[in-house]
Amino acid sequence: MTAEPELLRERAAAALTAARVRTAGLTDPVTEAELTAQHSPLMSPLVWDLAHIGNMEELWLLRNVAGRESMHPEIDPLYDAFEHPRAERPKLPLLSPGEARRYAAEVRGRVFDLLERTPLEGTALLDGGYVFGMIAQHEQQHDETMLITHQLRQGAPVLTAPDPEAPQGPPPAAEVLVPAGPFTMGTSAEPWSLDNERPAHQREVEAFWIDTVPVTNAAYQEFMADGGYREERWWEPAGWAEIRRHGIEAPLFWHREAGTWLRRRFGVTEPVPGDEPVLHVSWYEADAYARWAGRRLPTEAEWEKAARHDPRAGRSTRYPWGDADPTPAHANLGQRHLRPAPAGAYPAGASPLGVRQLIGDVWEWTASDFLPYPGFRAFPYREYSEVFFGPEHKVLRGGSFAVDQVACRGTFRNWDLPVRRQIFSGFRTARGAVPAGSAGQA
Ligand code: AVJ
Ligand code: FE
Repeated sequence: MTAEPELLRERAAAALTAARVRTAGLTDPVTEAELTAQHSPLMSPLVWDLAHIGNMEELWLLRNVAGRESMHPEIDPLYDAFEHPRAERPKLPLLSPGEARRYAAEVRGRVFDLLERTPLEGTALLDGGYVFGMIAQHEQQHDETMLITHQLRQGAPVLTAPDPEAPQGPPPAAEVLVPAGPFTMGTSAEPWSLDNERPAHQREVEAFWIDTVPVTNAAYQEFMADGGYREERWWEPAGWAEIRRHGIEAPLFWHREAGTWLRRRFGVTEPVPGDEPVLHVSWYEADAYARWAGRRLPTEAEWEKAARHDPRAGRSTRYPWGDADPTPAHANLGQRHLRPAPAGAYPAGASPLGVRQLIGDVWEWTASDFLPYPGFRAFPYREYSEVFFGPEHKVLRGGSFAVDQVACRGTFRNWDLPVRRQIFSGFRTARGAVPAGSAGQA
């Protein structure tokens, strides 16, 4: 895709500004003590994310692109995610909240100067404004990480947002059949797509049925009420061991009072809403539920075919609804709301076959390990994707209510360990469509 340089500059500047506005919204209402505290061993202190955002921006835009010297060489190792695991970060001599804010703002000022004068072509990093888009996506990803820290934090709420609207119109059928056939997975054209989304390639997919909406809290509670957490046969052995070891019997942030399930959401305790997609489940919980339901998780290729393959046009689109950028009518993205919308919302965001809420609301666990596509090349650094490839990480697709649209599209790939559930994770289920008996032709 080629665009006018001025348009590209505006797009890059707008994406960087939107990310910084969101970062401020996540850090300004929090006290100094809470910015430097560790709210969970799974997370960094918020002040680490804040300075790390500035440090990555300095590294890629000022040092690598503009060829500048490091502004503060002594702090660079502190904000290298591979030098210090999250649990150790509170003990590091980190910048104070004020210093971190000033540092990130100073970097940003220099970046805007650079953006005005640098050509957005000529190198792989600059073509299409890629490296600016990459840094905007990086900040938005850390904004989602900081929102997870907010969810883990104890105490009175500091964030508010209106609730999503109730779904309009008739609900869709429970599942749809996706016919067998090849489709184009991944992309070579999307200018700001990250390395693991590339290149575009053909995938053969057998026919399968897929849920038109994510699995709801009400459906998930049926699994719980049926003793799902007490029956070993539904669980992967490692998942069974995990729920036994930690006494897990419900999604994270749920507890029962007088026979009713309640959940804590950004500091508010409320009854679990039955019609909302289930949130804060691990891959093991998603997988166990699917087995209990006589189904399975979709593979990553099935998920992407359901989300992108347009059978009328015979090609893959950028989003389920086509190639147009998301609007609030298409999907629950960008932290407009602090929760997923009820299942069945956003009919305008449905795929041609009628699958809804593939984009936004909840990250959806897939059956697949996080692996490179054929022809993958790490770009611009191995530590974004390549070092995470392998069977330890499962792929999540589609993005949550906490993902900004700059970091969300039909090809976008997220990944995590199968035990993780502090993330904004849910799932939908699938089943094969090969007719019974046709497998064993004599
Ligand atoms: C793609 C969400 C798994 O947060 O670990 C942020 C994104 N990479 N900084 C993560 C990321 C480097 C990454 N995930
Ligand atoms: Fe990072």
